[in-house]
Parts: sequence; C-alpha cells; structure tokens
Amino acid sequence: MGRYVIAIDQGTTSTRAMVFDDSGSIVSTGQLEHRQHTPRPGWVEHDPLEIWANTRRVIAEALANADITRQDLVAVGITNQRETTVVWDRRTGEPIYPAIVWQDTRTQPMVDALAAVEGVGRFRATTGLPLATYFSATKILWILDHVPGAREKAEAGHLLFGTTDSWLVWNLTGGVDGGLHVTDVTNASRTLLMDLAMLDWCDEIVDALGIPRAMLPRICSSSEVYGHVGGHSLLREVPIAGILGDQQAATFGQAAFEVGESKGTYGTGNFILVGTGTEIVLSEHGLLTTVAYRLGDDAPRYALEGSVAVTGALVQWVRDGLGMIQTAADIERDAASVPDNGGAYIVPAFSGLFAPYWRPDARGVIVGLTSYVTRHHLARAVLEATAYQTRDVIEAVEADMGAHVHTLAVDGGMTVNGLLMQFQADILGIDVVRPRVAETTALGAAYAAGLAVGYWGSLDELRANWQEDARWEPAMSRTQAERLYRNWRKAVARTLDWVD
Ligand code: G3P
Repeated sequence: MGRYVIAIDQGTTSTRAMVFDDSGSIVSTGQLEHRQHTPRPGWVEHDPLEIWANTRRVIAEALANADITRQDLVAVGITNQRETTVVWDRRTGEPIYPAIVWQDTRTQPMVDALAAVEGVGRFRATTGLPLATYFSATKILWILDHVPGAREKAEAGHLLFGTTDSWLVWNLTGGVDGGLHVTDVTNASRTLLMDLAMLDWCDEIVDALGIPRAMLPRICSSSEVYGHVGGHSLLREVPIAGILGDQQAATFGQAAFEVGESKGTYGTGNFILVGTGTEIVLSEHGLLTTVAYRLGDDAPRYALEGSVAVTGALVQWVRDGLGMIQTAADIERDAASVPDNGGAYIVPAFSGLFAPYWRPDARGVIVGLTSYVTRHHLARAVLEATAYQTRDVIEAVEADMGAHVHTLAVDGGMTVNGLLMQFQADILGIDVVRPRVAETTALGAAYAAGLAVGYWGSLDELRANWQEDARWEPAMSRTQAERLYRNWRKAVARTLDWVD
C-alpha cells in the first residue's frame, strides 16, 4: 500500500495540492493563485480552464517537492470553493462561460423575482437555504439565459453543470473521454436544488426554475471511490475517494464530527459550522442548514452554518483597492501600533451582508471617524471587523442550539494573526484554539479519501491526530468587550439603511 494521501484544495483565490501522511502531517504542497475577474460591480468570475491547468501544475509541484510518484499515493481527495458555478460542453470540454463565483451578486433580480412568491424562505424547508445570489441555482439560470444557444444545448443533454469539484473530477477522470459527472452531498447542499432529507435533486425546485435535469451531476457521498484518475495524469489510476465542500472539509479536518462541535475558518470570508448530528435543524436566526458529511452509505450528518462573505477579502481590498499596505501581513503590524480602534468601525458589506443578516441591499460603511483616527486605527478596525462578524454568527448559533459555545476551533490563513485571534477570544469571551495542522481544509478532504480506501480505519483515529498548537484566552474585561460589540451593532445598522 502507498504511503500517502493527496488532497486538492480548489479555493476562491488559489488551488493547492497537499500530500499527507497517516498522522495527518503535511509532507508536501504545491500552490498557485488564479485570476479574479470583476468585469462589472458585483460580478466575480474565474476561468475554469486556468483552474484546471493550475490543478495539474500544483499536483506536479507537490509530487516533485517530496520526490513522490503516484505509486506512493493511496487516494485523492477533492475539496473546493462551494457554490461557484461552471457550465461546460461535454463534447468539447470547453466551459461555455467563465465560472460565476459564489460572491457574485448579478442574479439579485432573479432572486427577487423568485422571492416574490412566498419570500426568500420559499425553498428553505427543503434545501435549508434562503433564496440568495450566493447559491448556484440562479447562477446556472443566468448562464442559460445569457449565453446564446445555451438552453437548447442543455436541453439536448450537451451541457454539464458542476461546482469546481465536479469540474475537476470530470477532467481528472478523462474529460471528453468518459469523464465522471459527480458531486458530493455537501456541495450539492449549496446549490439550492437539493432536498436535504432525500439527498437528491428536488424535482419540484428544478422544474420550477426550469433547469434541465441532464445538466446536474450525480450526487454521491463524501467518502467512497468515485472512480480513478485517467489519461496521462501524474495521478493516473489513483482512486478519487473523497469530495467535500471546503468549509465542510475544514470541519472534518478539525475532527469536529459530533453534535455541538464547531469550527471557524478564516479565509476570504469566515465560515462557522456547528454539527447537529443526524438531525436537520432549520435556523430561526439567519444560519444555513447544510450537510456536514456523509461517509459511504452511513446516515448523513448535518450542520448549521454562519457564512460571512468578507473577512480576509477586506484585508485584500485594503492592500489592492486602497494601497494602504504592501502585504496582507502588514495589517497586523499597523494594527498593533495602536492600543485600540480610536472609535472607528468598518463594516465590509461588499456583497451585501450574509449571515445572520442576509441583506443583499446593505452597503459597506466606515463610521466613527474623527481627525484622531489614523490609518493604524483603520487597520485595527479592519481586523476587528472579522472578529465582530464571527460573534454575530456565534450568537445566532447559540440562539438556534439553545446552548453555549465553549470554545471555537479555528483554522485558515488569518489565524496566523495573533492580534486578531486574541481579539476574537476577547470579543467572544471564550477560548479560541488552533490545531497544529492549520490546513484543515485539505486535511479534511484527505481524511475523507483515506477513510474510503482503508488508509485510516475510523473517526477515532482521525480524532487522535488532532493536536493543539495555540490557545487564546479572553483577557479583556467583559464590560469593555460588550461596549465594543454594541458599537459594532450600531455600525451594522448604518449599512442597512443605505439607499443609493
Ligand atoms: O461558500 C464559499 C466558500 O466555500 C469559499 O471558501 O476558502 O475558498 O474562500 P474559500
């Protein structure tokens, strides 16, 4: 048997390949960023062919870095940015339009039209999701409506839809030469088209939207052998055995398998998931209900999720949009040079506000400005925005679950920022812990794939791999923390009454 599992993490800003050993340690990595296209305000697109080319390159890089060949690998796991929509022609392998990214808000008029009947909760009982531009369904519709000839081709069975997991698996397994058209339950649960209880496409919704059924991938579990890598790939004949949407993968990689266990991933956005076991809990407080994972034929496990659209992306904007810093790491240096935010709050409602508000009409604000405020205070307000938004979600989780969250397990790029993590613990008033392997997204996909082929034997083995690396305990007085958070809520209120 080979010695390692390889995971491909196809994220919003980059694609990575990571090789793991059986202790869950990283053996080797490869990473490449892809371009972000923003042709109009609110539009965000990726080039699926660039993503596929990058995938092949990062696989080669990861293998070369540790002198590994396909014979050393037992399985491939895939994890991906969720909701981002690719539609391609199965006869040519060519996408008919760029990938429409999860952050893209162009379909708001479609969402409004659908919500005119029964409101944004129209499909919530079935799908666990409110009607929003975030999910794949209206992105598919937009492509069918705007690309000449698309609907006819789709009806003739020539077009395939997939989130980027499907796109990569189809290409890895042979593409036009019989590529597999599949996805897993976690990704399917983000389309607004899947029945959460049946784990199948909901005919009623698919028909109501007029999406040709032939476009939709087969929904599989998150951990099974779907097929083998084909063609001339460096991974030729290695089984593809795990697929999880990236936030579910991070939860799995944190070994948060049980009811009430939670994790927060700090990336482009923040995504907090808390397990509800085999029970489907519909949120009363602005959270999404989603599939956490399904291992083979086992019962699916569900989760409540609070999705925050803009956290790390705010730091990027400060760097690229404002030119206020050179590198993302500068934000911590600037923020650390002042003791507090000087009274300034930034609410980055760039794509409206996601959880728990779900207000597409919200627009970002900076409030509390006086001439005392410097760019250092603003740097601090940028970091603090992430922590406050996370608290908004944790409050909703506690209200829905009727229980207190005791610790938050964190991962993702921004968790290297000690100032932010300390402030997060202060604002939440609970411990924040980071595991030794902070690349939990790729790890989760590797775990799902490794379980399917017997490389790991049980969830207990995965749990035993989890080791604490850092812990931040609340140090700020509760009075002070509550005062800051109250101000934040006032700042949020300002984003909601903005009218262009
Ligand atoms: O729902 C969107 C999410 O899956 C994107 O995650 O880490 O690629 O920004 P990330």
